[in-house]
Amino acid sequence: MNFPKLSDLNVSGKKVIVRMDLDVAEDYTRIETAKSTLSYLIEVKSKTIIIGHKGRPAFVETSAGKPEGWKELSLEPLADVIGRVINRKVEFVSDIVGEDAKTHSENLKEGEIILLENLRFDKREEENDEEFAKQLASFGEVYVNEAFAVSHRAHASLVGIPKYLPHAAGMRFVQEVEHLSRVIENPERPLVFLISGIKKDKLEMIKNIKNLADKVLVAGRLPKFMDEDYHDEKVLIAQLNPDKEDITMRSIENFEEEIKKAKTIVLAGVIGKYEDEGHRQGTKRVFEAVANSSAYKVAGGGDTEAALTMYNLLNKFDWISVGGGAMLEFLAKGTLPGIEALRGN
Ligand code: 3PG
Repeated sequence: MNFPKLSDLNVSGKKVIVRMDLDVAEDYTRIETAKSTLSYLIEVKSKTIIIGHKGRPAFVETSAGKPEGWKELSLEPLADVIGRVINRKVEFVSDIVGEDAKTHSENLKEGEIILLENLRFDKREEENDEEFAKQLASFGEVYVNEAFAVSHRAHASLVGIPKYLPHAAGMRFVQEVEHLSRVIENPERPLVFLISGIKKDKLEMIKNIKNLADKVLVAGRLPKFMDEDYHDEKVLIAQLNPDKEDITMRSIENFEEEIKKAKTIVLAGVIGKYEDEGHRQGTKRVFEAVANSSAYKVAGGGDTEAALTMYNLLNKFDWISVGGGAMLEFLAKGTLPGIEALRGN
């Protein structure tokens, strides 16, 4: 797939805006995956401005003009986390497009790095507001997208900024596209998708995924949102236990049967509320079945990765994507709004 890569750009000594995946809880893998891009920028003495989002702030404004519950979603603690990953000081700036952010970006010296506040504290990020994108772009000379996991969102920091600056995909982003393309281009069949988790918007993807897959297994909270009469021979919907926090033993066994036959598997989402000891069975058994299969296997999404880490199964996969929804959308449509923006579309 053709889109500009970081290695195509001259970033030496320049102010580079890096859109990262900072939507993390306790697991910092998403941040670690940006290490090669950040280290490269340090090496060539770029002045790095990191931007990103965390969570889905509810827009009930507080007296301080920030969305309700903002403290929990502030990116401030992540400055140290990023700093530890790249062994450099990362300065946090408690601002997005205001004077403070502007001054800090202007005063950056070669090799220095700053992190701006959660982009979603400004509604204009999700609205893909032109003016907001322009203001952000004005802080830098080059834009790098190292946020594959959110590149399915047509938000200002992903599709707006590249209109105003020379742009490219980060190193990890490029690898994501290469590995996931293997599932779309001539996959070994049967190709089985497991779509689970708690984000309802994954359901919209089933329609497209069905055209590509031989079987789609649906679990997590998703069966709760599906029509009871839904019927499609390609789609196997798990039965939920009465408390709706895990799937039934029968469904686990049915899933295991399908997984056994598969030659390519995509795992997107946890099967039940695996964080609770009592609701872990579905996730454990189904994830183990996938991990032990000899199929080409990719997995993605924050919770999926955390659960695979818990069961020590990560290294059994051919590729672990940073994206959950983004991975599925890429596989369903063959591209993402964030990729199209890099291609100038
Ligand atoms: C993710 O965690 O999947 C991405 O950060 C996107 O988050 P969103 O679903 O809130 O847009």
